[in-house]
Amino acid sequence: MIPYSELNSIVANSFSNLNFNSEPQNLYEPIKYILGIGGKRIRPILTLAGCNVFSDDIKSAINPAIAVEIFHNFTLVHDDIMDNADLRRGNETIHKKWNNNIAILSGDAMTIIAYQYLASSNPKYLGKIVEIFSSFALGICEGQQLDMDFENRKKVTRDEYLKMIELKTSILLKGALQIGAVLGGANDDDVKNIGEFGRCLGLAFQLQDDLLDTYGNVETFGKNIGGDIMAGKKTILTIETIERLGNKVDDFIELLGSNTLPRESKVNEVIRFYNEVGVKEIVEGLIDDYFKKAHESLTQISVSEERKAVLVEISQKLMNRKN
Ligand code: IPE
Ligand code: IPE
Ligand code: MG
Ligand code: MG
Ligand code: MG
Repeated sequence: MIPYSELNSIVANSFSNLNFNSEPQNLYEPIKYILGIGGKRIRPILTLAGCNVFSDDIKSAINPAIAVEIFHNFTLVHDDIMDNADLRRGNETIHKKWNNNIAILSGDAMTIIAYQYLASSNPKYLGKIVEIFSSFALGICEGQQLDMDFENRKKVTRDEYLKMIELKTSILLKGALQIGAVLGGANDDDVKNIGEFGRCLGLAFQLQDDLLDTYGNVETFGKNIGGDIMAGKKTILTIETIERLGNKVDDFIELLGSNTLPRESKVNEVIRFYNEVGVKEIVEGLIDDYFKKAHESLTQISVSEERKAVLVEISQKLMNRKN
């Protein structure tokens, strides 16, 4: 079995071998920039790990893993325009460093490059893989639209929120694993089972992201703290807070929707409400629940525990993440 550290090196080497020194520079330079900064690269690692659960030969999963990560980076480039975010991975976002039009077009090119890498997959599995890839790609668009729609809604239920994050985030972790599993020769049941692990892991992952957006540290998180609060996002923090605020709930909702307050005062006032209900601890508990669920779902996959060990290792790595 290949441990996380080795999968990480394979992914890092594969990305350092990519070449984006093409013309026009204003199209390719931003792609090189964002992919070069890197990030955790957890999704391509999941594709390789998903393959390795079922096969000792993971070579055929490398290009599809690259495709998954390039697609993920495209979603970040456009997401940062939509969320008006200035910082990504501790560096200026593309739309800030260049401009919106360049960020839109470089993002578009990244989706096409992602499909080029995907197209080189084993023809035997190509149909299945394109189906998974296209289905999560469209799902992410749906999730991102819901996320934006929710900004203008006063109240969003927990179920609506969970459906939204399942689409915008979880579906990609799930799909990354499933593409790997298909290439490793998994049967349909196991593709479904590893997908359930990815779904739970992905939900925990987005809840953590929501938490870090308020309670993280800009140096380690690499994104500006309070971005969700400024955009009036409906996150797990707002949902759990609204449920517990009693008669102060209208004040909180009005505050969250305000776009006239200076950044510091809005963020601090929202955090005061959060702290009043102890939302940090509540959300930490929920994250823990989803990690446990992810672990439990592993029992359904019909290979030895030893073959699944890398999935346990990855989820443990993610559990205490600060970025
Ligand atoms: C950020 O994803 C977008 C979310 C789904 C929360 P990551 O946290 O995986 O970002 P990078 O790729 O490591 O920078
Ligand atoms: C992540 O949502 C979803 C996608 C990028 C598709 P966020 O908007 O919370 O991601 P970050 O926090 O900007 O990375
Ligand atoms: Mg967003
Ligand atoms: Mg964002
Ligand atoms: Mg976020």
